Amino acid sequence: MDGDVIKLLCDGLPAEAVLTDPDITRSYANDMASFCPAGRPAAVVLPRTVDQVRHVMRTATALRVPVVPQGARTGLSGAANAIEGCVVLSLTAMNKIIEINAVDRTAVVEPGVVNAELSRAVAEHGLAYPPDPSSWEECTIGGNIGTASGGLCCVKYGVTADYVLGLDVVLADGRLLRTGRTTAKGVAGYDLTRLFVGSEGSLGIVVRAVLALKPAPPRQLVLAAEFPSTAAACAAVCAIMARGHAPSLLELMDRTSVRAVNAYARMGLPETTEALLLAAFDTPDPAADLAAVGALCTEAGATEVVPADTEAESELLLKARRLTLTALEAVKSATMIDDVCVPRSRLADIFEGIAAIAAKHRLTIGVCAHAGDGNTHPTVCFDPADADEARRARESFDEIMALGLDLGGTITGEHGVGLLKRDWLARELGPVGLEMQRGIKHTFDPLGILNPGKVL
Ligand code: LAC
Ligand code: ZN
Repeated sequence: MDGDVIKLLCDGLPAEAVLTDPDITRSYANDMASFCPAGRPAAVVLPRTVDQVRHVMRTATALRVPVVPQGARTGLSGAANAIEGCVVLSLTAMNKIIEINAVDRTAVVEPGVVNAELSRAVAEHGLAYPPDPSSWEECTIGGNIGTASGGLCCVKYGVTADYVLGLDVVLADGRLLRTGRTTAKGVAGYDLTRLFVGSEGSLGIVVRAVLALKPAPPRQLVLAAEFPSTAAACAAVCAIMARGHAPSLLELMDRTSVRAVNAYARMGLPETTEALLLAAFDTPDPAADLAAVGALCTEAGATEVVPADTEAESELLLKARRLTLTALEAVKSATMIDDVCVPRSRLADIFEGIAAIAAKHRLTIGVCAHAGDGNTHPTVCFDPADADEARRARESFDEIMALGLDLGGTITGEHGVGLLKRDWLARELGPVGLEMQRGIKHTFDPLGILNPGKVL
């Protein structure tokens, strides 16, 4: 069977675009999620053209072989994990920026373009592509679209979904679908573009995207505020948002996160603080905005408020924040990274609840959060060789999601469902929601060959 697939794939792809050596294909088996199962791919294909992708899907349909699309595999939910006997469809070789149009403020790109490369390319035209996941130097636009990824600047600029205007998608049977628009406005028909954003490769293969761009904002300046409790830091977040400020970033690191970053990278962050809040402004007068927000932090109980004087200082603080999850991974031998998002008015409640869950299960759970979005990343640090601790880690992870739902939140703000949260999706959607979503899946993928077992 594997032989048939490989032979048919090679009929429409150059030999070097079809990898079958198990030592190599094995390295494509996982994304960055912990504890999600992965099978062995029959082949990994690296097409360079839309026609080659169509050939892959026609082959998969003819032979009923599952296809797992992949970008840079920096995802955190197992959505890009291989399935036993599947064809891994890596879009990383389709990495051209096709057009940047300063008048329309759009970019047309292939899916394998790396997020940071697009950002740098549009910057030369005085433009910005805002969505900035922490993995932006590696992750691809196709992967960003597949997982509907967010980032640090979302509190002001929104998420990937807000920037995808139109898509070219190869369907399960190889047909080519064009969705959306290249215009600033457009309301013709159902919004299939939005449907594909966050569909984790389960509805079709994105081969081209039209993206909206913004005028490049002025460089941002960052302020760091230390708080004696996460509750006080959350109160500051609420005050900042309620007073109508528009920070370009509003991030919170708890004590465990701060210490982990210091231990990992000697960043010199304040070790004694219970919560470190980072706020940034990219407004015409960022210093004035930082002063106003600094005053709100002091009112909420901040013990120290330090605005960065220079861009370099600001960058260093952001680097510390971006390192947090990697640093937490070094605390014990393993981590489970969660992604629960609550209304920001409930941020203090989720921090309090997570602390109680950590105490109950005798676990270290570091929390960093896109606080301005109410999006938390509670990260359970544990030793998988200790069966009891591993069980408690899993239980705490589930309890955090239950807590998020109770607080009116969602099980995932930006990392997606993948394999990791499949069981939880039904709880969030409810039976009617689930039935409608299954109907959509069946319309696009009647044979169930597109990333089966992911999302739904
Ligand atoms: C972050 C990624 C993991 O916030 O979402 O760093
Ligand atoms: Zn995040």
